[in-house]
Amino acid sequence: MKIGIDKIGFHIPDYYVDMNDLAVARDVEPAKFTIGIGQDAMAVAPISQDPVTLAANAALNILDEADREAIDFVMFGTETGIDHSKSAGVYVHRLLDLQPNARTIEMKQACYGGTAALQLAKGHIALNPESKVLVLASDIARYGLNTAGEVTQGAGAVAMVISANPKIITIENDSTFLTSDIMDFWRPTYSDVAYVDGKYSNEQYLSFVSQVWNKYKEETSLSLDDFEAICFHLPYTKMGIKALETLLEEGNEETKQRLQNNLEVSIQYSREVGNIYTASLYLGLISLLEGKELNAGERLGLFSYGSGAVGEFFTGVVQENYRDHLNVDHHKALFANRKKLSIEEYEEVFSATLPTDGSTVTLDTTDDSSAICLTGITEHMRQYANNN
Ligand code: CAA
Repeated sequence: MKIGIDKIGFHIPDYYVDMNDLAVARDVEPAKFTIGIGQDAMAVAPISQDPVTLAANAALNILDEADREAIDFVMFGTETGIDHSKSAGVYVHRLLDLQPNARTIEMKQACYGGTAALQLAKGHIALNPESKVLVLASDIARYGLNTAGEVTQGAGAVAMVISANPKIITIENDSTFLTSDIMDFWRPTYSDVAYVDGKYSNEQYLSFVSQVWNKYKEETSLSLDDFEAICFHLPYTKMGIKALETLLEEGNEETKQRLQNNLEVSIQYSREVGNIYTASLYLGLISLLEGKELNAGERLGLFSYGSGAVGEFFTGVVQENYRDHLNVDHHKALFANRKKLSIEEYEEVFSATLPTDGSTVTLDTTDDSSAICLTGITEHMRQYANNN
């Protein structure tokens, strides 16, 4: 049975910071951010957008009534969840008005959570071919103002419908994965921002790429020549370029050129958004699918990495007329309608917090163009509204 991604879409908040502005404010050569890190902008979430609303908005634009009736499993990958107990997916289930007889859970393993959800969704469809699974990957990456990681922040979400006979790509069964208990990046439950050993995290990411790719080659006898493109988890886009370089020690010239050209297409959206942790790999996939006319039957490689760490290399096969099922215009409009923040405005937005003492706050959402917003908090309960 063919199982894979039937629908896919993303959502980003209304605000962004230009990396040239950030570089000037932080007294850094702008080329370090735009070339050395490979980012042009980073998305900034206002207080009325959290991982729940970003994910719900991403899903809102891909679901129809048939999906709402067929989805019986919601899996929400995130590493910036809003509750230690309740799954963020349960809020999304209500906000999207999905039929009630569904399982809903949250998945966590750093940036790998979305891939974990996708692979488990595949198993669920294999057992229940008529059902559909809603996979959500949503995060707000925060390292803190004036930190080395600041330039690699971002905010956004990807939503995918996983089903039998998918319209976009099938996910193949061959896949190689790896777990190793390391401290390259983590966020203790008491911290609002991530802790990271930046250089070590880069090294580990690249080591995982090599290890899972070598194992994949051993197990499948496939080579780089069998791939039209490879998408990588993108904590920042230069990381994807470095990852591909480590693989390009093999492969003929034509393959190298093709993979480099297609990587360039796959990093375009992330250059404008920044790291969205669990959703980064899938934003790269959307950038490729929307930015290039792929042919049915072409094979795509996907490398997922979640610090701590778990990595996986898996593959998808492009389906006939896949482009008819993308939301290219909607995604272009999201970028076109964003408002640039000055560094002062960004710092103010970044520093805004919700009360933690149980008091009531009502948020002004008039400037937030997203259909689904966080409207306030009362007695420690977040209040959401769908204005669609
Ligand atoms: N022009 C062009 N390039 C320049 C430059 C200039 N004027 N100045 C510096 N550069 C280049 C440097 O040469 C360097 O390139 P290479 O990596 O190719 O050597 C690049 O810019 C970055 O410079 P530094 O290494 O000096 O940057 P830094 O010390 O400020 O930190 C970072 C970079 C480690 C990525 C930091 O931003 C960070 O800690 N980010 C968060 C952690 C992270 O994203 N890790 C990625 C792997 S872990 C993962 O993938 C999981 C996840 O999502 C977090």
